[in-house]
Amino acid sequence: MIPLAIPDLRGNENQYLAECITSNFVSSVGPFVSRFEDMVATASGNLRGVATASGTAGLHVALVAVGVKAGDLVIMPSLTFIASANAINYCGADPWLFDVEPASWNIDCEQLANKLEEETEQRSGELIHQPSGRRIAAIMPVHTLGLPANMDAIVKVAKQYDLPVVADGAAALGAIDNRRPVGALGADLTVFSFNGNKTLTCGGGGMVVGDDPALMDLIKHLTTTARNGPGYDHDRVGFNYRMTNVQAAIGCAQIERIDELLSAKQSIRKIYNQAFAHIPGLSAFPDYSSPSADNKSSCWFSGVLIDEADQERVGSLLSHLKKNGVESRPFWKPIHMQEPYLNAPKNNLQVCESIWSGIVVLPCSTGLSTDDQDVVISKFLQTVSN
Ligand SMILES: Cc1ncc(COP(=O)(O)O)c(C=O)c1O
Repeated sequence: MIPLAIPDLRGNENQYLAECITSNFVSSVGPFVSRFEDMVATASGNLRGVATASGTAGLHVALVAVGVKAGDLVIMPSLTFIASANAINYCGADPWLFDVEPASWNIDCEQLANKLEEETEQRSGELIHQPSGRRIAAIMPVHTLGLPANMDAIVKVAKQYDLPVVADGAAALGAIDNRRPVGALGADLTVFSFNGNKTLTCGGGGMVVGDDPALMDLIKHLTTTARNGPGYDHDRVGFNYRMTNVQAAIGCAQIERIDELLSAKQSIRKIYNQAFAHIPGLSAFPDYSSPSADNKSSCWFSGVLIDEADQERVGSLLSHLKKNGVESRPFWKPIHMQEPYLNAPKNNLQVCESIWSGIVVLPCSTGLSTDDQDVVISKFLQTVSN
């Protein structure tokens, strides 16, 4: 079986894990944690990073830190992994769901600007969503599959309405937009995930990056049970959300190879896109690279988009591929179709609805050989033509 996405742990992972054991530093106190924070912050173009137990924990604490409270709404795209919405829900807030742009699968910035204009008003210094009467507390764009959302447009709107921006960059470490690394595109905070299927993994883990010292201090405080000093003195309800030294040891070994791992993902995307772009009924995943290398997606997952007319075939396609030794997977079911969020405020979500069930993720491990990728492409094309 050619697997979908498995980690590549062929760097210094073994050595660094052994150091954790011999030094007896296995908890969140340990030298790899701060080393990993510094390395990720440098790679994302930020001054600081706070390592968390998961990307979801990072999103939650970031939203709390920018002031999201019970009853609020947070703007986000419907096409994302459920963790983005769950992090909002953990604050007692709800998502306000937006469509995505067909070319990028990222939040539709025109809809964002229009809806804020049409459906909000300022009341006593707060931005209110008129249909629900609820406060809008933040914007959470998602850099889908590691392709940066149109942050210039999002930040412009955020400034106009005085809203903080927490970017869900779960899979986007290493992406660049107009030569700027993904953490330096204007979000107040950006959050990465290092779970097992990410290009760089810690087994599990996350990181909040940003530049504002007070905000980053608050995040560190909140992730360490809001404890003041060595005594048991806590000034609010915090979280036990820190990454451990063991996770960070793996992360340090992974990030030492970031260029190699990203370029493997980017060439896998290029090969699939070339193979599928011109076949009727199929479309390529969003492409985002310029010859001058000013723009680059981190190309987390790759695969193919089946046109709307053929989407009912996707289930049988996946099982045929499995029988032929190729692991493949559908992609995220949008948030507005998920049981816990059926009643969340939402806009017209036509693009989400027309693409999500046609997205097929194909094997894209960083260690995938070109021979194996050729096998995947030919098995896939045989299966769709039957
Ligand atoms: C877009 C997005 N947001 C959030 C997360 C959550 O990250 P974690 O699994 O580290 O909690 C993921 C994980 O896959 C993701 O893809």
